[in-house]
Amino acid sequence: MEKIVSLCKRRGFVFSGSEIYGGLAGTYDYGPYGSLLKENLKQLWRQRFIDERNVYPIDAAILMNSKAWEASGHVSGFSDPLVECKKCKKRFRADQLENPNACPECGGEFGEVRQFNMMFKTQVGATEDESSVTYLRPETAGGIFVNYKNVVDSLHPKLPFGIGQIGKAFRNEIAPRDFIFRLRELEQMEVEYFVRPDAWEEAFEEWRTLMRDFATEIGLSAGQVHELEVPEGDRAHYSKRTIDFEFDYPFGRKELWGLAYRTDFDLSAHQAASGVELTYLDEETKERFVPHVIEPSLGVDRTILAVLTAAYREDEMGGDTRTYLALPSKLAPIKAMVAPLLKNKPELVAKAQEVRAELQKVHAWIAWDDNGNIGKRYRRQDEIGTPFCITVDFDTLGENAELKDTVTLRHRDTGEQERLSIEEVATRLREALA
Ligand code: GAP
Repeated sequence: MEKIVSLCKRRGFVFSGSEIYGGLAGTYDYGPYGSLLKENLKQLWRQRFIDERNVYPIDAAILMNSKAWEASGHVSGFSDPLVECKKCKKRFRADQLENPNACPECGGEFGEVRQFNMMFKTQVGATEDESSVTYLRPETAGGIFVNYKNVVDSLHPKLPFGIGQIGKAFRNEIAPRDFIFRLRELEQMEVEYFVRPDAWEEAFEEWRTLMRDFATEIGLSAGQVHELEVPEGDRAHYSKRTIDFEFDYPFGRKELWGLAYRTDFDLSAHQAASGVELTYLDEETKERFVPHVIEPSLGVDRTILAVLTAAYREDEMGGDTRTYLALPSKLAPIKAMVAPLLKNKPELVAKAQEVRAELQKVHAWIAWDDNGNIGKRYRRQDEIGTPFCITVDFDTLGENAELKDTVTLRHRDTGEQERLSIEEVATRLREALA
């Protein structure tokens, strides 16, 4: 874990939030490569979970009318058990203590366990009374349920259909920990998939398969991902069936994603609380009913940590230990690096720039690195997971006529090199990103 955290900071993936002020617990900032990696992950999710399915995207507000969170059960029930040490006054999550009878910091005695609501409360507008209280959304799902009717009325989708969104969610976790695993400000990628009440099981299996396939596509091997049938007592208040997708993180097997059957709990609750009808009229059968919901919910940050964990590798190369990230090309922040063999030869530099411009027609994120020797440039790119490095040398310029307009293509995982024409390199890149 330390190695991953250190690489993330050293190479500009993830930094502590507000670092120059000593940080802010439970917040992290994504640096240039981290934000590119995150963007690539979100794009791939959008493609698989929205674009290729009958799922409509939305982008709902983070601040919502507090009545929505009362109706959804979050005001009364979105809480974790909290205990406070009587001696040092530190607070802990009661269900995460190794010894529930002694404070891990000072050995002191605990007070009574109480429920701590995890929603961040805030005030909307200039008045500071109960009527202006609202919450930062604790799940993006809330914004989807309150827009169900808007989507039905404006796009008239046929059941089954989904509504999905990516966005920030906020949870005042008692004990944020494990780097970007448990955050107070997090990001989620969620779909609420609306089905006929009798069709939920089939839909549940469909989304389960899709989640498995997505895990494979982003580089998580089947051996690292485990599906846990969550027992009734441990499920969220809205769920009749939940499968947790767990991942073998460096600190243990922990929840990565959730797949839940939320029944008609949310739509019925919002219908009752708002007085607005949230039913669906089946035009063929003329039946009117509240749809049931299957919810695949994926945390962006936990996925990034799983992707980094799965991709992190060390091996021996050229007599040295090398660190590299075996990221799938689609996720890699930088797709290829182009370098002239020598940076003080203008004709090499000019040709290398030409090659880079050619590859940028395939993808914008083609790096340029002419610092230090070639070996150092490769190591830098290996650490950020760049799949290909391309070197332009004197043969490219035609010193050896047979090799004119060819370059060296080096592969990240094996270090193997091959001589290819510039067009062939562009094709390889296109294929890797397809
Ligand atoms: N809408 C359903 C929902 O929010 P959840 O199991 O509470 O269900 C879904 O959260 C996913 O969001 C989790 O599987 C995880 O990936 C992510 N997540 C939840 N709490 C998190 C936290 N404090 N920090 C980072 N990610 C978190």
